[in-house]
Amino acid sequence: MTLAELEKAKAESLAEIAAAADAAAVEALRVRYIGRNGSIPALIKAMKDVPKEERPAFGKAVQAWRAEVEAALASKGGGAAAEKPVDADLTLPGRWFALGAKHPLSRVIEETARIFGHLGFTVADGPELENRFNNFTALNTPPHHPSMDRSDTFWFGDDTLLRTQTSPVQIRTMMENKPPIRVICPGRTYRRDTTDATHSANFHQIEGLYVDTKPVSLADLKSVLAYFAHEMMGDGVTVRFRPHFFPFTEPSVEVDFSCHLCKGKGCRVCKESGWIEVAGAGMVDPRVFGHVGYDPEKVSGYAFGFGVERIAMIKYGIPDIRWLYENDVRFLSQLA
Ligand code: PHE
Repeated sequence: MTLAELEKAKAESLAEIAAAADAAAVEALRVRYIGRNGSIPALIKAMKDVPKEERPAFGKAVQAWRAEVEAALASKGGGAAAEKPVDADLTLPGRWFALGAKHPLSRVIEETARIFGHLGFTVADGPELENRFNNFTALNTPPHHPSMDRSDTFWFGDDTLLRTQTSPVQIRTMMENKPPIRVICPGRTYRRDTTDATHSANFHQIEGLYVDTKPVSLADLKSVLAYFAHEMMGDGVTVRFRPHFFPFTEPSVEVDFSCHLCKGKGCRVCKESGWIEVAGAGMVDPRVFGHVGYDPEKVSGYAFGFGVERIAMIKYGIPDIRWLYENDVRFLSQLA
């Protein structure tokens, strides 16, 4: 290409760019002239074939062409300028992504771990498939106890069962550790219940266990559960103990929270009593210490256990336990 030809090609290219009707046409011209395989880079590559004495002037002319093409493209909103999102409306609101939320049962479990974490409790875990010793025998359950019945428990043979409570984690924890012990154990439990608004064959419990070589009393248990009630259900919620029986605690109590809705005055949720039953608890029976190799003369402690569904239902006002398992977003999104 001679210098004259170059000037002619340049004039044509600038005219074409000036006449380009839309962004696509501008982009096509960019590719044609300064794209990787465009005509201007091709000229630069071919520079070695230009006679030596003409090379400086020719090189200058090519560079000038390139600069003018770039300026012309930019003035049409193309070239390097096109790489910036000039078409975007920067005042548009951001895109909304629907984030999921924690399931109410997970929230109760995590909140419980946080509250007891403040009191020095750690989280212990145990298997859902248990043996007779951990689920019943070591917990001082007599062989004739109805909970062991085939119609109340899911058995696999004579020794293996789906745990009916989280209490076997007490046994596992004590067998593997020395006092002092402070654990909570959340997990799934199984009973052969027919499902209705308040029962499910598979539900969740949270066990608590404190064992120490210094004397532990029922007053300690009560203060810890009172703190838990206040943190979980809100200011002013208190606890009361009613005498009860569990094979593995002595004395045993049932634990009620004062009704967080009517503040104890009586309403539909607490069945006009002002109290809601939430947990079983008591002082660890000395026989249980015997089963795990602790000296009942040297250690004492308390244990408690409550249903996660029960807490979730009263805390969030959920009338039917089945809603917690159906994964219906119309329900779940109300609690998000
Ligand atoms: N495991 C008992 C139940 O399922 C609850 C409980 C736990 C009671 C710990 C006392 C101590 O009913």
